[in-house]
Amino acid sequence: MEYSAKVIDIFKNPRNAGSLRGANAVGKVGNSACGDIMKIYLYINDEGVIEEAKFKTFGCAAAIAATSVACDMIKGMTIEEALEVKNSQVIDYLGGLPPQKIHCSLLAEEAIHAAIEDYYRRKEKEAKDEPDGDEDEE
Ligand code: FES
Repeated sequence: MEYSAKVIDIFKNPRNAGSLRGANAVGKVGNSACGDIMKIYLYINDEGVIEEAKFKTFGCAAAIAATSVACDMIKGMTIEEALEVKNSQVIDYLGGLPPQKIHCSLLAEEAIHAAIEDYYRRKEKEAKDEPDGDEDEE
C-alpha cells in the first residue's frame, strides 16, 4: 500500500509545524520501532481548553501528516476530549496508512498524552511553589 493522496498533500504542506512560544505543555516521545522523535507543544488556557498545538519531528511523512492532523483535531478541545483522540481517527482522516506506517501515527497520540502529563506536572509544581495566597485580606 502506498501513501494516500491526502497523506502526501499534508506532508508537503504540513500545518502546525514548529515550536510554540508560550507553550505551557510540552511532550516528547520516541518511536522504538524506528528511533524517530516527536515533540508536541500545547497552549492550554485556564478553562482547560487547548488553544494552540504545534509539533516538531524527525519522523517520516506518515508521522508528519498524522501529527499535523492530530494538532488540528485537538485545537479547541478540552484536555479530556484530546485524551480521547485515537490514532485510528487520524488514520481514517488520512484515508489510511500503509500497515508498516501505522506505528508512526502513534507518535502523535503518545506525544499529546505526554504533553498533557507535562501540563499537569507544571500545574502541580505551581500549586506547591505558590505561598498560601487565598487567605482573606485583613
Ligand atoms: Fe519513524 Fe515513521 S518511520 S516515524
